[in-house]
Amino acid sequence: MNAMTGTGEFNIDPQALRQTLSCFPTGVAIATTRSRDDEPIGVTISSFNSVSMDPPLVLWSLARKAGSLSEYRAHRGFAINILSADQVELCKLFASPQRDRFSGLEWVEGAHGVPCIAGCAASLECETHAIHDGGDHEIFIGRVIAHMYSEKTPLAFGKGQLGAFAVA
Ligand SMILES: Cc1cc2nc3c(=O)[nH]c(=O)nc-3n(C[C@H](O)[C@H](O)[C@H](O)COP(=O)(O)O)c2cc1C
Repeated sequence: MNAMTGTGEFNIDPQALRQTLSCFPTGVAIATTRSRDDEPIGVTISSFNSVSMDPPLVLWSLARKAGSLSEYRAHRGFAINILSADQVELCKLFASPQRDRFSGLEWVEGAHGVPCIAGCAASLECETHAIHDGGDHEIFIGRVIAHMYSEKTPLAFGKGQLGAFAVA
């Protein structure tokens, strides 16, 4: 489809807007933190992006309806675990209704106790710098306090599909 949707009257159809936005491929990450009960928690996200180099800031957004929102608000930090192409099952698990998402998972404690998942393409440990209104989402801005990257191929997400990042 090549339709111009909602022009003129600002009548934006959510379904069509999702399709338009899906033409901008992203990576996939799991944002992790500790709950107020000190349990490791995490959620699959594609809304991650860089913001600033000096100071080093990154952002991601979480739906207001997400069950874990209050936990991310309460903790002083989070980790962004950038998934590799062989971690599709983790992507699905951390977007599923299953509560105990860390059962059988290999991970280590990062700064402020946030979980860093093994086998990722890269990861960033962050202190929460600001939380902004983002409509039906909240935007978390984090200051990077540690990070690592590997040679693993990142998982990619675009046009509603998961795949391995490929060089053109
Ligand atoms: C590829 C992919 C990307 C996603 N990106 C986001 C995102 O950026 N923000 C968000 O709030 N939910 C996103 N979701 C949906 C959440 O992972 C899902 O709703 C999750 O169950 C929310 O966790 P909770 O309600 O248990 O806290 C994404 C799901 C998938 C599969």
